[in-house]
Amino acid sequence: MTHRVLTVAGLKGGIAKTSTAANLAAWWSGAGRRVLLVDADPNGSATKLHQRGDGQLLLLSASQCVPIQQAPMAMTKPWDLVVVDTAGGSRDEQGQYAEGSDFVICPCQPAASSIEQVLDLAEIVKASGKPFGILLTMCDERRKVDATKARQVLTRVGLPVLRSQITLLSAWPKAEAAGVAVRDARTDANRPDPGAAKAWQQVGELAAEIDEALS
Ligand SMILES: Nc1ncnc2c1ncn2[C@@H]1O[C@H](COP(=O)(O)OP(=O)(O)OP(=O)(O)O)[C@@H](O)[C@H]1O
Ligand SMILES: [Mg+2]
Repeated sequence: MTHRVLTVAGLKGGIAKTSTAANLAAWWSGAGRRVLLVDADPNGSATKLHQRGDGQLLLLSASQCVPIQQAPMAMTKPWDLVVVDTAGGSRDEQGQYAEGSDFVICPCQPAASSIEQVLDLAEIVKASGKPFGILLTMCDERRKVDATKARQVLTRVGLPVLRSQITLLSAWPKAEAAGVAVRDARTDANRPDPGAAKAWQQVGELAAEIDEALS
């Protein structure tokens, strides 16, 4: 049984690696694909998120979230997709995960320090020879110019920037706190979060773009 491995990489903390990995896994699982979400961060953020929501994150019961230590055993089962959430920081580790992937997503905020880390990360991923795409994320709608400029800077140096873009929305931390996919984010008054549908649509667009790249 062949599965595709998708890694969410990053050299910096707090750039939406776990949010991206968990929600892509949720999207594909909701679409009936057997998804293994591998939590390769010793902090266990993805595992904790999954547990907080009592497993609601991955709709298809055949999908699973496991810490990296349990991945070899879990990998003996048939999967359609394996999504790996990495810990930011170690260059060697990021290189090793890239080598084991079919596609690497590199989240990047439209801010100087995040762009600098992604330029660095791109060199590491390029050395693995694996296809990758930079995902502009946490893009502030009130400062659209920042994302446009970041896209220009990265494209100008020849890096592949994904068409899909993720907007900065409070639905994301709300969903994270509840341990659910961003689609299911709710307000403090327990109403559906007004940004959830938009955020989920963007996750869907990203999933479609990656499916295209993997095909
Ligand atoms: N599009 C978004 N809009 C607003 N907040 C977001 C968005 N994406 C993620 N966040 C929030 O930003 C914070 C950092 O995100 P996340 O934990 O996914 O980053 P990370 O790169 O995995 O961090 P770490 O390096 O600690 O593992 C979280 O509180 C998350 O809910
Ligand atoms: Mg994380």
